[in-house]
Amino acid sequence: MKDQLEALKSEALASVQEASDLKTLQDLRVKYLGKKGPITEVLRGMGKLSPEERPVIGQLANDIRNAIQAAIEDKQRKLEEEAIQKRLASETIDVTLPGRVMPKANIHPLTAIVEEIEDLFIGMGFSVEEGPEVETDYYNFEALNLPKDHPARDMQDSFYITEDLLLRTQTSPVQARSMEKHRGQGPVKIICPGKVYRRDNDDATHSHQFMQIEGLYVDKNVRLSDLKGVLTVFAKKMFGEDRDIRFRPSFFPFTEPSVEMDISCFRCKGDGCSLCKHTGWIEILGSGMVHPNVLEMSGFDPKVYTGFAFGMGPERIAMLKYGIDDIRHYYTNDRRFLSQFKQV
Ligand code: DAH
Repeated sequence: MKDQLEALKSEALASVQEASDLKTLQDLRVKYLGKKGPITEVLRGMGKLSPEERPVIGQLANDIRNAIQAAIEDKQRKLEEEAIQKRLASETIDVTLPGRVMPKANIHPLTAIVEEIEDLFIGMGFSVEEGPEVETDYYNFEALNLPKDHPARDMQDSFYITEDLLLRTQTSPVQARSMEKHRGQGPVKIICPGKVYRRDNDDATHSHQFMQIEGLYVDKNVRLSDLKGVLTVFAKKMFGEDRDIRFRPSFFPFTEPSVEMDISCFRCKGDGCSLCKHTGWIEILGSGMVHPNVLEMSGFDPKVYTGFAFGMGPERIAMLKYGIDDIRHYYTNDRRFLSQFKQV
């Protein structure tokens, strides 16, 4: 009996040792330690043994059962550990592999140029204002000295929504709105970037929607020389210190006198080329001294206050600065175009 048990023990321990997976181990547990296993059988048959043999065999059978149990548990831990190691090995990540590069967006060239212009004027004490894109006829035209039926309204073909509401054709209405907010007290020193709309057929230089940046400075003793000084600083910072600047007489209903500002062509340096249409000069913006009627309509006393105003198109400015040949590039959002402006 004793020998039989010892043989069973060696056989069981050897099988456990050899087991190479958890399933086999589980089968061995059932085989040797299960209810129908040999050890349970021995213990069950104890009654047939002599009283002297009983404790010896009982003790031995228990010891063997514990030994097999311990061996199985030990092996189970080892197999589980091995399985984890194997999984870890198969799942390792090669951190030296190059990652997938996520395409990074960049600031739209138009936004970048508007921010650049804003920064220049903020540096000269202007603050940034905004106004509505759906505007009343009053602010878009009348408050700017363009009464109904004024022929200059023809300069700006408009999208009317109702008799009295339209998509603003210019950012100039923000002049009137800002002055009204100040209730006749200067200074008013603002710029206003924003979208404007005109009934134009889209082509390389026209778009039914484009941007403008409006500027207004109203205070006591603001003169044409202030206008020239501020806009000259702007033009030189924007297009280079060695640019020549000139002001030409012009007409806008809301300014008197009105001027347009040209810079010397930065491509041919004034000699004449296709960019400047062989004139040596490039037109940059419109401006002038705020018309007394405009001051008065928005609550400022034109005998006390004077001011200058200007308006420019950031699309055109960026087109000139970066040699962009078609205004539609800004709106079609072709990434081949947009990605060229990463460091703007
Ligand atoms: N609003 C004008 C336009 O769309 C541009 C402009 C010209 C604005 C002269 C001004 C200005 O404030 O003084 O053509």
